[in-house]
Amino acid sequence: MRSSAIAVSGLRKAFGDRIVLDGIDLDVPAGSVFSLLGPNGAGKTTTVHVLTTLMKADGGTARVAGHDVATEAESVRAAIGVTGQFAAVDELLTGQENLQLMVDLNRTASAGGKRIVTELLERFDLVESARQPASTYSGGMRRKLDLAMTLVGEPRIIFLDEPTTGLDPRSRRTMWSIIRELVAGGVTVFLTTQYLDEADQLADRIAVLEQGRLVAQGTPDELKRQIPGTHVRLRFSTVAELDAAARIFAGSTRDDEALALRVPGDGGTKSLRALLDRFDEHSLSAEGFSVHTPDLDDVFLALTGHTTEVVAK
Ligand SMILES: Nc1ncnc2c1ncn2[C@@H]1O[C@H](COP(=O)(O)OP(=O)(O)OP(=O)(O)O)[C@@H](O)[C@H]1O
Ligand SMILES: [Mg+2]
Repeated sequence: MRSSAIAVSGLRKAFGDRIVLDGIDLDVPAGSVFSLLGPNGAGKTTTVHVLTTLMKADGGTARVAGHDVATEAESVRAAIGVTGQFAAVDELLTGQENLQLMVDLNRTASAGGKRIVTELLERFDLVESARQPASTYSGGMRRKLDLAMTLVGEPRIIFLDEPTTGLDPRSRRTMWSIIRELVAGGVTVFLTTQYLDEADQLADRIAVLEQGRLVAQGTPDELKRQIPGTHVRLRFSTVAELDAAARIFAGSTRDDEALALRVPGDGGTKSLRALLDRFDEHSLSAEGFSVHTPDLDDVFLALTGHTTEVVAK
């Protein structure tokens, strides 16, 4: 069995009488990617702050790299890197100077300082802008510089709090491939995100945080299996056609307004052919159809179903 990079038990945290973490249990095996999902204000950043020793919990225990975050904060800090939700980049310094500053602050890295800075600038595609002040960088460049700064001491465990928020699709993919490379090199990644597809792409395991509790935990596939499944949606041009189709497909649900029928199935080619054959048998036709598989957005919405109430006037 792989050892735990992060092990959390019964973690609690309140701000005044507002309970933000209400007993959280987590286990992240070394060398894996763990993603913490949750709506705004769910407590993701608070969790990161506690695990990275920036904030004290009110109760429970958390061990990171084998060390207790409350009593062995120094050892925890030596093992981790943190990229916060808000960039730690110094605007007045150039990209190169920001990285050099991290090297100077980092005892283990200062020996090979220049080489480390050059390597990171190259890896993050920041060579051209290395001598310009970070205030002139775009949001994506700043995020990349921020992550590069986190990697200076070659931490074995990194915490990324919403690393791709505000990035364009290309920059997000660049960030994803950097994260994958890190994991391939054995680094453990603890990632918070608002983007379900990001967790789906990167995470070995996901936990969904909602009102201070973990309401679901598992692999992306396990979570997707927890909510109502795959179906074929058929669209018709008349109510009569919809009626006829609804009669032959037991277990289907109809949407009269959209003249659509939802037929549960596995979405495979065999069952799709069987479905179309039944149309032929009954001399029926549909205007169109589409196959739906639940994605993590469906999971997220199903599990964090606190929609704003609409008041009818
Ligand atoms: N230092 C603090 N003092 C008081 N309340 C705080 C403090 N930090 C966070 N909170 C509250 O704790 C709750 C959780 O905040 P947190 O930043 O952990 O959420 P989050 O899941 O990271 O949200 P987001 O997706 O918006 O980043 C919020 O209600 C927030 O107002
Ligand atoms: Mg946050």
